[in-house]
Amino acid sequence: MRRRSSRQRVGVVGVNDVTEGERARTMDQEIAPIPVRPWTLNGMSERLIVSHYENTYGGAVRTLNAVRSELAGLDAGTPGYRIRALKREELIALGSVVLHELYFGNLGGEGNKIPEQVGSALEEHFGTVAAWRREFVGAAQSLADGSGWVLLTYSRRQKRLWNQIASDHSQAAVDAAPVLALDMYEHAYHLDFGANATAYIDAFMRNVNWAAVVERLAAVRADRSLPQEDPSDRSLPSLSIEELAAQLAKGEPVQVLDARPRHHISRTVDLMAGAIWRDPDRVEEWIGELSPGQPIAVYCAYGFHVGCNVTRTLRERGFDARYIRGGVSAWYAAGGARAMRPAST
Ligand SMILES: [Fe+2]
Repeated sequence: MRRRSSRQRVGVVGVNDVTEGERARTMDQEIAPIPVRPWTLNGMSERLIVSHYENTYGGAVRTLNAVRSELAGLDAGTPGYRIRALKREELIALGSVVLHELYFGNLGGEGNKIPEQVGSALEEHFGTVAAWRREFVGAAQSLADGSGWVLLTYSRRQKRLWNQIASDHSQAAVDAAPVLALDMYEHAYHLDFGANATAYIDAFMRNVNWAAVVERLAAVRADRSLPQEDPSDRSLPSLSIEELAAQLAKGEPVQVLDARPRHHISRTVDLMAGAIWRDPDRVEEWIGELSPGQPIAVYCAYGFHVGCNVTRTLRERGFDARYIRGGVSAWYAAGGARAMRPAST
């Protein structure tokens, strides 16, 4: 998870009513860029993954920040029932943020290729990999008519793996680190699979990114925090959507460039408010329109290669260009403002 100090929270819906004092006491939860390339999954659609990320995960982050703002503003006269309600909401929202980050981070691999490091750990604690899988999948299927999370979890105290059902976002076990998370809420699969939870579970198992599980297992065994799967290209200057929002709110003259490929933008109805779309395959045709003295923030759909490529080209041509981590999807997840896409694009 990422946090930043909250001197100003802008560009995110519903945050302009916090006071300076509240801002000083609050630590905001940043939107993490989507870690999986959502168009690459086997039998799970880009639309499903992106909707889940922008709406459910983004909503959890926004709720967490809103609840923590309220908590920061409590005074001695706040009744106990209000504090209990807020702390309950904070726990649920925090659980949802963390579990969704783990979920997206453990997708995008070849699920049938379990690495030796994980396979031997599963054999140690479940007898065989097949026995682990039977229990894990069985736990998921038991939630087909309900909702919740199925987690392969490492208990730090017992130093062993076990499968856990968490029937809501707040029920991950004490002392445990989830190393593989399966979201069994209907929003995680209904768009693609309807009520067919079994087909969704099969698809999930085909797409498990075991490399992430290996990293998590190594981290928790070494008493380190679970790593954040982060696809950002650190070889190029970049900025988070929160940093961009703060710059725009202060009136800084940032040129925001939407560089999604034509085939992608043509499927959408909107873009980031204040941005202009330019075809990333025709940079030479529009590069002369840019103001050389103003910084440029470039985004693509998710912050992977397209925005980076355009940023690199602009920098080579002398512009102060940065790409936006997480792309427009992260902006939408944070509740950032949208505008209608001009009909000419
Ligand atoms: Fe979810």
